[in-house]
Amino acid sequence: MKMFLETLKMCKAEIVKVVKEAEGIKSLLLETSIEKPIPGQFVMVWVPGFEEIPISPSMYERNVLRLTVATVGETTRKIHSLKPGERLFIRGPYGRGFNLDEKGNFLLIAGGYGAAPIIYALHELRKKGKNVAYIIGARSKDKLLFVSEARKFNAEVYIATDDGSLGFKGSAVEVAEKLIAKYDNVLACGPERMLYKIMLKCLELGVKCQISIERYIKCGIGICGSCVLDPKGLRVCSDGPVFYAEELANTEFGKYYTYPPGIKKPIE
Ligand SMILES: Cc1cc2nc3c(=O)[nH]c(=O)nc-3n(C[C@H](O)[C@H](O)[C@H](O)COP(=O)(O)OP(=O)(O)OC[C@H]3O[C@@H](n4cnc5c(N)ncnc54)[C@H](O)[C@@H]3O)c2cc1C
Ligand code: FES
Repeated sequence: MKMFLETLKMCKAEIVKVVKEAEGIKSLLLETSIEKPIPGQFVMVWVPGFEEIPISPSMYERNVLRLTVATVGETTRKIHSLKPGERLFIRGPYGRGFNLDEKGNFLLIAGGYGAAPIIYALHELRKKGKNVAYIIGARSKDKLLFVSEARKFNAEVYIATDDGSLGFKGSAVEVAEKLIAKYDNVLACGPERMLYKIMLKCLELGVKCQISIERYIKCGIGICGSCVLDPKGLRVCSDGPVFYAEELANTEFGKYYTYPPGIKKPIE
């Protein structure tokens, strides 16, 4: 068992704090010895007896890793039930994160739990002294993530809710479409339909755009092929999960998601 964990560079991580961030979304602060992730990279999280799943850290500070998890199924429900003092297993960080060294100002766009890697990128960009704005979209105000945290880091904050319970009534994309032209860079993570529209707008305006996308991740290290984005054969776990808009153009991104064992379903 010890040798197996060492081969995968899997570490035990102890939960030091659990924070309820929004309706159905909790953050776990974990003490761990993994190396500092680049925002946008992911770790594989394993609770024995459950699936191993990919999660993009929402913060890392002095050996404390924050994972912000939405409940969608069995494994994420189990993660939500864990308490401080309990342990889980982590391997990574894996994949390509956001390139935060691009020149100029940054517009950060997040939908739902896609705010996790985006708020971490915001922390690191502000540490580099970059000018940052944060657009956060959710169905209603009780599902919005990291609004006060973004303000604490002196980012300009724009809020969009589908039901109009706070900020602009409508989607983060509608807010973003009015702002993108003012920025040198866009970083985005969230539902794929939203990301696809942002990709198209950035390509039209010639704004540099990096998008963190999701596909079904099993090995996490480029071996099993479960996360491939056709027809370019991009492996989301190792070539991504962050891609420039030009790399995603003319792929099945925005059109199809492949579920194991290779079943393609249209993006809704
Ligand atoms: C690179 C990456 C980063 C992610 N970061 C976060 C994050 O920061 N916070 C967060 O809440 N969620 C994140 N997710 C999504 C998270 O991995 C899924 O919600 C989780 O795997 C669901 O597991 P489940 O057993 O609870 O639900 P299930 O019922 O097993 O699955 C529900 C849905 O989750 C997705 N899913 C399930 N297993 C996987 C898998 N192995 N790989 C990818 N998608 C899967 C599928 O769309 C599936 O239909 C990320 C996904 C990827 C690919
Ligand atoms: S998850 Fe195995 S190749 Fe990407």
